[in-house]
Amino acid sequence: MEMNRNEVCWCGSNIKYKYCHLAVDEKIAEYKSRGYTVPRRKIIKNAEQINGIRESGKINTSILDSISDKVKPGITTEDVNRLVYEKTLELGGIPAPLGYEGFPKSVCVSVNNEVCHGIPSQDTYLKNGDIVNIDVSTIYNEYYGDSSRMFCVGEVSEERFNLVETTKAAIDVGLTEVGPWKTLGDMGQAINDFAKSKGYSVVYEVGGHGVGLEFHEEPYVSYVSKKNTEMLLVPGMVFTIEPMINQGKADVFVDDKNGWTVYTKDGSDSAQWEVMVLVKDDGYEILAH
Ligand code: MF3
Ligand code: CO
Repeated sequence: MEMNRNEVCWCGSNIKYKYCHLAVDEKIAEYKSRGYTVPRRKIIKNAEQINGIRESGKINTSILDSISDKVKPGITTEDVNRLVYEKTLELGGIPAPLGYEGFPKSVCVSVNNEVCHGIPSQDTYLKNGDIVNIDVSTIYNEYYGDSSRMFCVGEVSEERFNLVETTKAAIDVGLTEVGPWKTLGDMGQAINDFAKSKGYSVVYEVGGHGVGLEFHEEPYVSYVSKKNTEMLLVPGMVFTIEPMINQGKADVFVDDKNGWTVYTKDGSDSAQWEVMVLVKDDGYEILAH
């Protein structure tokens, strides 16, 4: 779509195109002509949208903060669900998972060999030695926030502790490859190389996603991708870095009874951390963690 330099920009900023996205568009066009996959305009957020997503992200982060000292042996994953639900409402948000494509609860809680999308249950007690991912997503003023953390329940084995810490470190490794005019593959390869170097494997069948105006937007974010491939990163893009890293083999399967919960095929433990990140002119900003 060609725009006149003096028209207001397509991004909704109300600023003339020549002072807003013209230069960025020219650069995107140049990358596109060299064969790069480039983002559609609708996933490039303007300042107002970024402010809204940032607010939602802050609430998401606070919800995780608020439950962190309550994750102890003896509570159930349904207790976690209730805590997240109540805190979200208290902060003026809506839990994004609740009713999303039929998901029955307000948060995903995934224990040990569960890779992601665990459904809270009053029958699932957290035991000493478990490792658990709590994945919180919030809608606030129609903007989406999404992040997750691992928790060690009581005393965990050294093996589990290392898996949790290495997966957290993998996010930081990935972040070193986030910035304008890099690609998602630069980030994905950095994470995969790091995880492999520690003897782990990265889940290739589930990934991250663009986020902000909707729960799941383009692009799909792989953590087994290759440097200089996948979508070009442009200022105003918001997406998640949420690698799932397995102690054993990378293969997973979905629970055929509930249709959601993903498990490792070999029964080995799996860890995941998730941050929501904004690409900026000069690097990135973490909008939720
Ligand atoms: N936060 C999870 C993700 O982005 C949400 C999965 S959909 C849900 O991967 F319905 F399970 F919440
Ligand atoms: Co996510």
